Amino acid sequence: MKLIMLGAPGAGKGTQAQILSDRYGIPTISTGAIIRGAIKNETPTGKMAKAYIDKGELVPDEVVIGIIKERLSESDCQSGFILDGFPRTIPQAEALDSLGIEIDKVLDIEVDDDLIITRLSGRRECSKCGATYHVANNPSKAGDKCERCASPLVTRADDNPETIKSRLDIYHSQTEPLIEYYKNKGNLAVAQGEGSLEATTDAIIKVLEG
Ligand code: AP5
Ligand code: MG
Repeated sequence: MKLIMLGAPGAGKGTQAQILSDRYGIPTISTGAIIRGAIKNETPTGKMAKAYIDKGELVPDEVVIGIIKERLSESDCQSGFILDGFPRTIPQAEALDSLGIEIDKVLDIEVDDDLIITRLSGRRECSKCGATYHVANNPSKAGDKCERCASPLVTRADDNPETIKSRLDIYHSQTEPLIEYYKNKGNLAVAQGEGSLEATTDAIIKVLEG
C-alpha cells in the first residue's frame, strides 16, 4: 500500500497515519516530523527550515523534495509507505510523479476550518517519537508522558492561533489544488474527518478497503 494523506492542518493526518501504519505494517513518512527533528538537532536543513515553520509557511519545494527522495530510497519503504504532509504543492506532486512510484490511493480527510483551532490548541505531541494526543479528545493514558515511549509530551511551537491561521491560508491556496490534481488522476479517496477519531478511522478503512 502506497498512500498519500491530504488534509488541512489538524485534519487528523498524523493521528490516522499512526493507526494505518500499525494496521498495514508500513512506515509513515511525515515531512513535518522530519523537519522538526532537523530543527531539534540543529542540522543545516533544520536551521534553514526553522524560520518557515515558525511562521506557518511552507519550506521551499526543493528542500522537501530532497528529504523525500532520500527517505523513500530506504529499505523499509520498498513494500509500501504512508506520506503524511507530502506533497503539499503541485511542484511537489510532479516531483513525486517523476520518481515513477505508483501511488495506490490519495486520501483526503475533510474537516471544516472552524474545528481546526480546537483541535490544534489542545494537541500534545511526544517529544521523542512524535505520537499525537489531544488533552480532551485523545488524552495519553500515561498523563503528561507518551503511552508508547514514556517521553514527555509537548505543545508544538506552530500550534498558536496566529500561526494556525497562516497554515490554514497556505493550505487553501497551495495544497487544496492537489485534490483536483489527484481527482484527475483517478486515485482520490475522500473521508469525512469531523466525527470522532474512531468514526474517522472507520470512514477511512471503508474508502480504502471497500
Ligand atoms: P505538519 O507537521 O505536516 O503539520 P500540518 O500539515 O499543519 O498538520 P498537523 O500535523 O498540524 O495536523 P494533522 O492533520 O497531522 O492532525 P493531527 O493528527 O495531529 O507540517 C508542519 C510544517 O512543516 C508546515 O507548516 C511547513 O512549514 C512544514 N512542512 C511540512 N511538510 C511540508 C511540505 N511537504 N512542504 C513544505 N513545507 C512542509 O490532529 C490534530 C489534533 O486533533 C490532535 O491533537 C489529535 O489528537 C486531534 N484529533 C485528530 N483527529 C480527531 C478527531 N477525529 N476528533 C477529535 N480530535 C481529533
Ligand atoms: Mg501531523
